[in-house]
Amino acid sequence: MTEHARIFLVGFSGTGKSAVGRRVAALLGWAFADADELIVERAAKPVEQIFADAGEDGFRALEREAMASLAARTRVVVSTGGGAMVQDEVRSRMLDAGLVVALDARPESVYARLTSLTLGEGAESAEVMVRPLLDAASGDPLERIESLKRERQWAYALAHWTVPTDGLSVEQAAHEVVRAWARFGAARAWDGDPAVAATVTVESGAYPVFVGWGGLEQDLGRRLAETGFAGRAYVISDSNVTHPYGRAVQRSLHKAGIEMGLFTVEAGEKSKSLATATAIYEWLAERRVERADAIVAVGGGVVGDLAGFVAATFLRGITLVQVPTSLTAMVDSSIGGKTAVDLPVAKNLVGAFHHPSFVFTDVSALATLPARALTEGWAEALKHGLALDAGLLDSYESSAEALLALDPEITTEVIARNAAVKARVVTEDERETSGHRMLLNYGHTIGHGLEAAAGYERYLHGEAVAIGMTGAARLGVLRGVTPPELAERQAALLDRFGLPSSYAGVAPEAVLEAMTHDKKAAAGALRWVLLEAAGRAAVHRDVPSADVERIVRELAE
Ligand SMILES: NC(=O)c1ccc[n+]([C@@H]2O[C@H](COP(=O)([O-])OP(=O)(O)OC[C@H]3O[C@@H](n4cnc5c(N)ncnc54)[C@H](O)[C@@H]3O)[C@@H](O)[C@H]2O)c1
Ligand SMILES: [Zn+2]
Repeated sequence: MTEHARIFLVGFSGTGKSAVGRRVAALLGWAFADADELIVERAAKPVEQIFADAGEDGFRALEREAMASLAARTRVVVSTGGGAMVQDEVRSRMLDAGLVVALDARPESVYARLTSLTLGEGAESAEVMVRPLLDAASGDPLERIESLKRERQWAYALAHWTVPTDGLSVEQAAHEVVRAWARFGAARAWDGDPAVAATVTVESGAYPVFVGWGGLEQDLGRRLAETGFAGRAYVISDSNVTHPYGRAVQRSLHKAGIEMGLFTVEAGEKSKSLATATAIYEWLAERRVERADAIVAVGGGVVGDLAGFVAATFLRGITLVQVPTSLTAMVDSSIGGKTAVDLPVAKNLVGAFHHPSFVFTDVSALATLPARALTEGWAEALKHGLALDAGLLDSYESSAEALLALDPEITTEVIARNAAVKARVVTEDERETSGHRMLLNYGHTIGHGLEAAAGYERYLHGEAVAIGMTGAARLGVLRGVTPPELAERQAALLDRFGLPSSYAGVAPEAVLEAMTHDKKAAAGALRWVLLEAAGRAAVHRDVPSADVERIVRELAE
C-alpha cells in the first residue's frame, strides 16, 4: 500500500486544489506539494514568464519533470495545475502512482472563486491558462470558463473519484477527499500495510484510523515514530491478548527504536476498575513516566477503556494509541475518545474524554477472537449499516458468508467502512450535544434495560443490542415510522449473523423498570432512535409507553 500512498488533486482552476490539498495532507499526516509551485521554483521564474519565454510546450515539459519527481514520493498530497490531467504522460503517471481525485465546481463557482479567491487564501495563485483568460479583453469570462472546462472535462472524468465542491467549505471538501482515499486505500489494504480508513476531527485536533489486514508488527512502531513521538511507550494489554498481539506490538516498537514496557491485566470486565487503574498508575509512577510518553492500549473494549482512562488521567493526560483487537473495539470503542472504568454500582460511571493520537486496527486479530465475542461485535457493526449507512447495509447482505468466514479483503473493507461511520458521527457530534451521536444508540434503550435486568451475566452487550434493535424496529413499524420490509431485512440479517432477537429468563417488568433508570432516558420521557429508512435513523420523542410495554413483552420468549 505504501507505494500507492499518494493523492493527486486534479481539476479546473478555482476548485480549491491547493487549499483542500493542504488540509487533506494535515488530516492524513502526509506532506503537501503544489506542482505549479515546484515548477516555478525549479525554473526560478513565475509561470507567466515561463510561458512568455518557452511557450506552453516549455511549461508542459517542466510540468512532466515536476510530476515525475512528485510521483516518486510517498505519503504526499499533490495539487496539480488545471492542465496537468490533460497531458497523456502526466495523467497516466498519476493514475498509476496513486489516487487521483478531481475537484469539480460549476463554472459560476469557479468564476466567483477566481475573482474573489474565497476557497483558501491565494489558492491556485500560480494557476496558468485561466487567469490570463480572465484578464483578456475580449468576450465574457464566464463563457470562456465554461468552454475551457467543457474541453477538459473528458480528462477530469478519468480521475478515480470526483468531489463536487459547490457549497462545500475547504474542510468539508478535504473530508470528502479523505473519504475517497479511505475507500480506495481500504480496498487494497488487505495485502499491504494498514491504510487510513477514516479521520476523526475533534476539538483537540484530528487523528487517523488505520485499518488493514496484518501489519501490526511491521507498521505500528513506525507509525508512532512518524508522528514525531520521541518518548517511551507503555503497552497495556490483557491475559488473552498479550500473546500474541501485545508482544507483536512490543517488537514493532522495538524495531522503531522506541523503548517500552508491558502491563498485562486479567482479561474481563472486572479489570475495568479503579483498582486496576491504580495498579497501572503505580507501575507508571515507578517507571517515572513523563508527559512525553505514551500508552498503547492493545485489546478489546475493556483494555481500551481502562488504558484510555489511565492515559486521560495520569499526569493529567498523556499520549494514547488505540490498538483494538476485538470486533467491538474495532468498530466502536476505540474510536470516539470515550474512556471509563466501572464502579460496583454501575458500569462506565467514572470516565473522561481522551482521544488517541491514532487508532491502528489489524483486522487479522479477529481470527483468534472467541466466537461469541465475534458474533456480539457484529451487532454494533450491523447497527452502523441499519442506522447510518445504507451501502454498508447492502454489503452485509451481499457478503454475509465472506464476513462470517473472515475473508481478509471483504472483512477489512467492511471494518474500514464501520470505522468511517463511527468517525463521521464523532466528528459531527464529539460530546453528544447535537444529538447526532445519539443515533449510535439505536437498539440500546431496550438493550441497556435488558442487560441491567439480567444482571450483566446472561446477555453480552451486543446480544442485548440485537434484541433491542428488534424491539426498536417493531416499535418503528407500530408507529408507522419504520417500513415493515426494513424490519424484515434487519431480522434476516441478525439471524444470519447468529444474533438473538428475543429474550428469556428475565421478566419484562424488570426490563421496563431498568429502561427508565437508564442514563439515556431524558427527563422522564424516553427518546427513541427509530429507523426511518435503510441507513437512516432519527430520534423520536412521541412514543407512547403503552406501545413500548407491548413490544418489550412481545420480545420475551
Ligand atoms: N468507549 C466506548 O465508546 C465503548 C463502546 C463500546 C463498548 N465499550 C466497552 O467495551 C467493553 C467491551 O469490549 P469487548 O467486547 O471488546 O470486551 P473485552 O475487551 O472484554 O474483550 C472480549 C474478550 O475477548 C478477548 N479478546 C480481545 N481480543 C482478542 C483477540 N484478538 N483474540 C483473542 N481474544 C481476544 C478479551 O481478552 C476478552 O476476554 C465494555 O467494557 C464496554 O463498556 C466502550
Ligand atoms: Zn453499544
